[in-house]
Amino acid sequence: MSDNRLAMEPSKEFVFNYKGCYFAVNTTPEHVASLENFEIKDSDIFITTYPKSGTVWTQNILSLILHKGHRNGTENMETMDRIPWLEYNIRNADFDSLPSPRVFVTHLPYYLTPRDLRNRKGRVIYVSRNPKDVLVSYYHFSKFIVTLEEIPDFNIFMERFLAGKVLASAWFDHVSGWCNHAKDFNILFLTYEEMKKDLRSAVLKICNFIGKKLSEEEIESVVRQATFENMQKDPRANYENMPEDIAMKGKGRFLRKGTVGDWKNMMTVAQNERFDEVLMDKIKTLPIKFTWDLDSEM
Ligand code: A3P
Repeated sequence: MSDNRLAMEPSKEFVFNYKGCYFAVNTTPEHVASLENFEIKDSDIFITTYPKSGTVWTQNILSLILHKGHRNGTENMETMDRIPWLEYNIRNADFDSLPSPRVFVTHLPYYLTPRDLRNRKGRVIYVSRNPKDVLVSYYHFSKFIVTLEEIPDFNIFMERFLAGKVLASAWFDHVSGWCNHAKDFNILFLTYEEMKKDLRSAVLKICNFIGKKLSEEEIESVVRQATFENMQKDPRANYENMPEDIAMKGKGRFLRKGTVGDWKNMMTVAQNERFDEVLMDKIKTLPIKFTWDLDSEM
């Protein structure tokens, strides 16, 4: 293989491909396959995202909404234990014994989710983010998380991202798959940018969707604790207490910048043109209208 082709292939040391989607090697094809038959309860909630779209933020919001002990600081439980990963059950959680409502987090494409979920059982909260910020966030993330292949050259990382040769595969396929199959799910769509613009409204939408009534004061408390500034101080949100084999290489923070439009600080004019050439026509076909910076909307 030529050097260029080689640079485009994700390393098998980090990912495997299962039915068209790349997974990190800290799960197995058998576990992913078993999820098809995973039994869903009506009260289950799934936070679903493409990587770097606001997953941990949404996990934190759900945990604050559902757990008084999180809101008032009397419980100090790791987010990963409270809201486990469906396809990466790295802490070997017993999914059956989680308290109701169970909340899971997943990067699964729509077609690999549990069958029940695809029959409108349980609830899905799908959070998406403008893909230029996703790309830049993903690039930085791959430099500091142990389980991701580090790709120092941003150009190569961008080409892999555009070709879907990264964990969770192509951003567009993920988002369009979920949008096009929305009617199969009981689903709430949110964007990172709307959460950023008006966090309170997003929290209210989530409460409404999951049927949780909180007082005005409780809502205020959720919103206050879910801001970037406050979450950045929280070791749980930053995954600071994770075991070393999945934690950070020590070169960054999980909560890095938390802004809309950071791609402008990273991408050159040529890279931006290349990105637009590959994706922009496709993006325009999506029902979600992305915000590229906080002053302009598409
Ligand atoms: P940046 O790298 O652009 O800072 P995920 O959880 O899906 O991996 O997404 C991570 C991104 O969400 C990171 O983006 C992180 O900083 C951002 N994020 C996490 N919590 C946030 C919050 N409370 N407010 C805004 N952005 C947040």
